[in-house]
Amino acid sequence: MAVLSIIIAPDPRLKKKSKPVEKVDKGIRALMDDMLETMHAANGIGLAAPQIGVLKNVIVIDVSKSGEPANPIRMANPEIIWESEERSPHEEGCLSLPEYFAEVERPERVRVRYLDHENEIRELEADEILATCVQHEMDHLKGTLFVDHISSLKRNMILRKLSKSKKVETESA
Ligand code: NI
Repeated sequence: MAVLSIIIAPDPRLKKKSKPVEKVDKGIRALMDDMLETMHAANGIGLAAPQIGVLKNVIVIDVSKSGEPANPIRMANPEIIWESEERSPHEEGCLSLPEYFAEVERPERVRVRYLDHENEIRELEADEILATCVQHEMDHLKGTLFVDHISSLKRNMILRKLSKSKKVETESA
């Protein structure tokens, strides 16, 4: 397993659409494990493959709280097969937009169909933080970031600040 570097916004690679995987084989399993290790190292609760520069429909999630046993979820080709009419706002952050948070309104509950790490078709019904997280990670597969759900004024402010701090980092590196 390996900790990979996470792409920070703004970056055109985060705006690209990912492709479905044909089959969850050894290579995809290794990708899932690397993504989980990368996510845990960054103290995140979810990570999508495009965030490490891989344009494949693969996401990993672990919303267990600190002190609780880990509960890693590996998903390939996730699709939402049902969503609740009720929507609710939750504060979201993203490892590709470090230190920025905003409230995003999404369906409160969703049912997701996906391939697990053994290439088995599974379904998961999610609510609360898991519902937010799975929808947020699936957005990444379409090239959508959580800031694309908020006002352009706030989005541009966040992206401007991020691109400024990236510049400073490159200059001092
Ligand atoms: Ni994210």
